[in-house]
Amino acid sequence: MMLKDKIAVITGTGRGIGKSIAKTFAKKGAMVYASSRSRDNGESVVNGICAEGGKAVFIKCDVSKEDDVKRMVQQVIEKNGRIDILVNNAGVNFVKPFEKTEPKDWDRVINTDLRGTYLCSYYCIPHMINAKKGCILNITTVHTKACLPGAAPYDAGKWGIVGLTKSMAVEYADRNIRVNALSPGLIDTQIWDDIKNAAPNIEECMKFWKSNIPMGRVGHPEEIAKTAVFLCSDDASYITGTNILADGGMTSQLISREPYKSSNLEGGDRK
Ligand SMILES: NC(=O)c1ccc[n+]([C@@H]2O[C@H](COP(=O)([O-])OP(=O)(O)OC[C@H]3O[C@@H](n4cnc5c(N)ncnc54)[C@H](O)[C@@H]3O)[C@@H](O)[C@H]2O)c1
Repeated sequence: MMLKDKIAVITGTGRGIGKSIAKTFAKKGAMVYASSRSRDNGESVVNGICAEGGKAVFIKCDVSKEDDVKRMVQQVIEKNGRIDILVNNAGVNFVKPFEKTEPKDWDRVINTDLRGTYLCSYYCIPHMINAKKGCILNITTVHTKACLPGAAPYDAGKWGIVGLTKSMAVEYADRNIRVNALSPGLIDTQIWDDIKNAAPNIEECMKFWKSNIPMGRVGHPEEIAKTAVFLCSDDASYITGTNILADGGMTSQLISREPYKSSNLEGGDRK
């Protein structure tokens, strides 16, 4: 029970990685405040956790709306008097050529990914300071190591979150508050379904991604959730200000060996 009796607020828990983090945190003993924009998805996740014997409460919250965030934090504090863990997971993925990225697109992505992370942290941190302990985990992305064309607001927002992570980490390190980022590679959530559905040829698509992920497969949400458990647990007591990659080796590979399969690239005999 690595998170026994920890009060954890997790955003964007209606599906995908956030849902998995909520479920896994509850399994590890945390009292989970699972927040989501959509009541239907959010409540069904919480009902599932409770049916399995976990402790969870649903809170409706759009992280881009200050009043929602304020209300969410107040609700948890009124009930428990403290927040031990905040996981800023809510995020929107975005792909569009930069010249077609309008200010409204920019605002939507930045307001959720970067401003949402700021707002939730801003309202939680005073309670962590009072309690003289706390942990904030920001879910970022492999895009914080290298970028994809056509994802400017997403890339800018997530790079901003890494900056915020490091800034807060050094500011609060001497007050027993740890702040880290966790960057997933390609994970089997809606985004992976969208990629597959948009592929003109599914076999080519699978081959392409296999060659770009040294482990040869996409990650499972549970693999991100288990890394999040560790980073938010006391076992990670000396880890702060870092950006941990869980990407199957994706960002360690300079280029894929496909399609040439050259022996030079295989590490084979050069002659
Ligand atoms: N799936 C991946 O391959 C992948 C890779 C790297 C990073 N990530 C990051 O992981 C996080 C979760 O991604 P996912 O794949 O599970 O995405 P997803 O789209 O399946 O889930 C995102 C969740 O965030 C919620 N959300 C969106 N905007 C919100 C808002 N304004 N307020 C509250 N909730 C909001 C959505 O309703 C949804 O429940 C995101 O921050 C994403 O950028 C995902």
